[in-house]
Amino acid sequence: MLRAMVVGGLLALPVQAASAASVEDGARLAVISGCHDCHTPGYAQSGGQVDPARSLVGDGVGFRGPWGTTYPANLRITLSKMSETEFADYAKSFQTRPPMPWFNVHAWTEDEARSFYLYVKSLGELGPAAPEFVPPGAEPKSPFIVFAPPQMPGQ
Ligand code: HEC
Repeated sequence: MLRAMVVGGLLALPVQAASAASVEDGARLAVISGCHDCHTPGYAQSGGQVDPARSLVGDGVGFRGPWGTTYPANLRITLSKMSETEFADYAKSFQTRPPMPWFNVHAWTEDEARSFYLYVKSLGELGPAAPEFVPPGAEPKSPFIVFAPPQMPGQ
């Protein structure tokens, strides 16, 4: 009897559940995953106020290290070139230079990636791109923060 009810209940489920993705979840994910920390100018300095006008537009202050100088990308532009499904696949597999924590994004569920996409698409104008990557040895023309390994005496 119980088994019949369970099986009957399962059969009543739709074959493919509707996506649970939402703009609200994406907005929260951008905060708790730390995406604004680097991709939203002034976010950290404001004590974590998300300014919708500047949310995820990238930053002109780069990070310089052995990899060269990288600038947090304008994610509105990056995602404008992808469909929601393309972004869900990309979020599972992409890699970048440091200090972008791409491995953290790989840990998102598909619904989380789709929510992040919906959130970014809900933001306003794309705005300008962040400065181009500068290879090691070349001098950046935009401001940067130096990420250097510590040099201990005697090493
Ligand atoms: C420590 C700073 C930092 C944090 C935190 C960070 N990013 Fe990045 N991100 C960068 C930098 C710098 C780049 C550019 C890397 C390069 O040039 O190879 C980048 C690049 C990217 C790219 C590639 C964009 C493109 O057009 O190639 C994506 C996508 C991305 N970040 C998404 C995210 C998401 C989503 C989060 C939140 C989970 C996040 N980032 C958190 C610094 C950061």
